[in-house]
Amino acid sequence: MPMPRERHADSADADGSLNGYSNGGRSKIIRAIDDEGGTTDAKYPHYLPVWDHAEQLPPLEPYTHHDPGKNADPSFKDLLHEGVTARKLTPTTGTEIFGIQLSTLSDAGKDQLALLTAQRKVLVFRDQDFADLPVPQILEFGGHFGRHHVHPTAGVPEGYPEIHIVHMRQSPADKNDFAIFTAGKNSTVLWHSDVTYEEQPPGTTILYALELPDVGGDTGFANTVEAYRRLSPVLRERLHGLRGVHDGISQVEPYYRDGRLVRRKPISVEHPLVRTHPVTGEKALFVNALTTHIVGMKKEESDMLLGFLNNHIARCLEHQVRVRWEPGTVVLWDNRVTAHTAIVDWDGRQRRHLARLTPQAERPFETPYVPEEQ
Ligand SMILES: [Fe+2]
Repeated sequence: MPMPRERHADSADADGSLNGYSNGGRSKIIRAIDDEGGTTDAKYPHYLPVWDHAEQLPPLEPYTHHDPGKNADPSFKDLLHEGVTARKLTPTTGTEIFGIQLSTLSDAGKDQLALLTAQRKVLVFRDQDFADLPVPQILEFGGHFGRHHVHPTAGVPEGYPEIHIVHMRQSPADKNDFAIFTAGKNSTVLWHSDVTYEEQPPGTTILYALELPDVGGDTGFANTVEAYRRLSPVLRERLHGLRGVHDGISQVEPYYRDGRLVRRKPISVEHPLVRTHPVTGEKALFVNALTTHIVGMKKEESDMLLGFLNNHIARCLEHQVRVRWEPGTVVLWDNRVTAHTAIVDWDGRQRRHLARLTPQAERPFETPYVPEEQ
């Protein structure tokens, strides 16, 4: 009988496949391709997730993050050059850009890419060659934006733990990921920022399409700077100085219990509820599904305030965009000033397969409340 599989906040956007079981201890390397009978019709089989149980990593060391956006020429002359068109998705959030091949950007262009991502929160590029490039070249590109994060539990392409795989479909065998994930829920929507349980969560984050369903599987993004600005000055001021606990330990408990891969011992961290972006200086709400409670508050108070803030981020379409994936699409978001959710609505017989680069950024910090700031 198959073991029940739990889904965590961080993977609830299809951040990782549900596999990774230890196969009753018989195998130390779990490959998604084995779920498919040892052969696959995946378009990018070398990107199918693998869980190597021998891979045990030490705690993450602090590192000094120099945000490339700080070096950027604000004229964007090395990014938005002649022939490039940029179309805003909404007034405040998201821009779709045509006419750039990201893999050919100079370092100056990448710096400007970091700045534009911070300003617009989400950038969508079409017709990119990322999926067909050698993985080391992709890693070199992503490394410009920070130290690659290696996810504690997610499946990775064999030999490349810095690439985070998003892979979900209904398996022909009884390991029916898609159906198990969606069963018993009215909605699987779960707004979150990625791996905020780390001391230095990701900043500029990159997700590229490998294989997509015909329709569906869009990703929703919420602008948490706008979410902050929409609060009353009274509440904004009160939030300053408060800290939230982002608990990576409870997230990983079911992995230990079920014998799934845990690469690195999980930790629990405190981050400010309002963080300041190191380049734009903008303040953003920094709470999400990974925030378990607010330091110093009693449970009911904390639950009420976190519930309100998470609901506020989730419900305001005014600060959200919905990105439709196409073959060749690459999406960048600034994980410090956004939340996102997968939209699990596609025909589960079709594969949704994407790859993520998750460069870490600075430790979240806050700057004082400014009354007149809008
Ligand atoms: Fe995510």
